[in-house]
Amino acid sequence: MPNCFNIRASNFEPMSTPTNDENFIKSINKTKICCVGAGYVGGPTMAMIAKHCPHIQVHVVDIAEARIAKWNSPELPIYEPGLQEVVEQTRGKNLFFSTEVEKAIKECDIIFVSVNTPTKKSVQFVFVFLGSMCCRLILLLRKSLLGS
Ligand SMILES: NC(=O)c1ccc[n+]([C@@H]2O[C@H](COP(=O)([O-])OP(=O)(O)OC[C@H]3O[C@@H](n4cnc5c(N)ncnc54)[C@H](O)[C@@H]3O)[C@@H](O)[C@H]2O)c1
Repeated sequence: MPNCFNIRASNFEPMSTPTNDENFIKSINKTKICCVGAGYVGGPTMAMIAKHCPHIQVHVVDIAEARIAKWNSPELPIYEPGLQEVVEQTRGKNLFFSTEVEKAIKECDIIFVSVNTPTKKSVQFVFVFLGSMCCRLILLLRKSLLGS
């Protein structure tokens, strides 16, 4: 059998095997995360990352000004048990909410996209938000990588 098919499990072992979740999180040396979409998924997910990874800066951005204003207020736009406490612990320290989508994308190391994909009555997904976000991302990344 040719050598390229001779795949052993050890080939897939990571260079340094993390012993637990905490070590794994510390081994991530990327420091700035941006999440586009401050909704039911983006908001709480990023709040938890900010809580458990104080060395990572988390920036959640959205085009909906009213939603961002709520994330920055005492009355969050969504309810999840314990979310209020997590946001209060981290907001302004390593968790930030704003409408500066382009700025956050340009300054971060990792981008999460969590924009809405609503469904029609026929349960077909509508990818217009995701599509427009991806086009925007491609243009921004192209600009910063190629300068055009
Ligand atoms: N909510 C859930 O329980 C759940 C579960 C599984 C998967 N999902 C998927 O996760 C994704 C996010 O869901 P959600 O419930 O958080 O949606 P959501 O509607 O609560 O939030 C989406 C946010 O994206 C913002 N947005 C849209 N286009 C944007 C753009 N171009 N730039 C910046 N912000 C933009 C909207 O203003 C909105 O605030 C969807 O694809 C959804 O299908 C959601």
